[in-house]
Amino acid sequence: MILNESLRLYPPGVAIARKAVKDCKIGSICLPKDTQFLVPILPMNYSETIWGDDAEKFNPYRFSEGSEKAMGSFFPFGKGPRACVGQKLALLESKILVAMILQNFSFHMSKNYIHSPVVFVTLYPQHGIPIILHALKRLLGVYHVKQEANALQAKECSEREINY
Ligand code: HEM
Repeated sequence: MILNESLRLYPPGVAIARKAVKDCKIGSICLPKDTQFLVPILPMNYSETIWGDDAEKFNPYRFSEGSEKAMGSFFPFGKGPRACVGQKLALLESKILVAMILQNFSFHMSKNYIHSPVVFVTLYPQHGIPIILHALKRLLGVYHVKQEANALQAKECSEREINY
């Protein structure tokens, strides 16, 4: 739900390119053969007609029953036979990354963060996303145990050197 909502508000691919292979009509628009056109992912993801009055708000719960409410207009990875081949990999990697971060850190946004998404080929945060990570206590415990073990090992080594 969180990944879908993030991809809705900030889809890295903001549009997909297509070419009409024959004369056709989409709704009221006539497209002669060979017309090249863009399907705008970004504007559709902010459409109040599709998503309701809170279209601009981050609300992962809107995906609690899948993306059916979007009536087929939610496709951050494209659609059809040329849809993204990396979709499953990208989603799996993102879930693993989020799980690994949450297992080991709490985090908050840096005060230096400036919300400034821009499009240059893909949509990305112009000034990056500086976040502050805090190691969880559990992790700090492991870190201290490791430090103690290292200190012990170093002591043993230096004693051995003296004995030789
Ligand atoms: C969040 C991550 C990603 C997003 C949002 C994304 C989005 C997209 C979109 C919108 C398209 C165009 C689809 C269309 O025209 O219908 C595309 C195509 C493609 N993507 Fe991704 N992609 C992502 C990650 C990846 C990864 C990780 C790989 C490879 C490991 C990948 C490989 C490709 C390839 C090869 C195509 C061209 C497919 C074709 O033309 O047949 N993508 N992607």
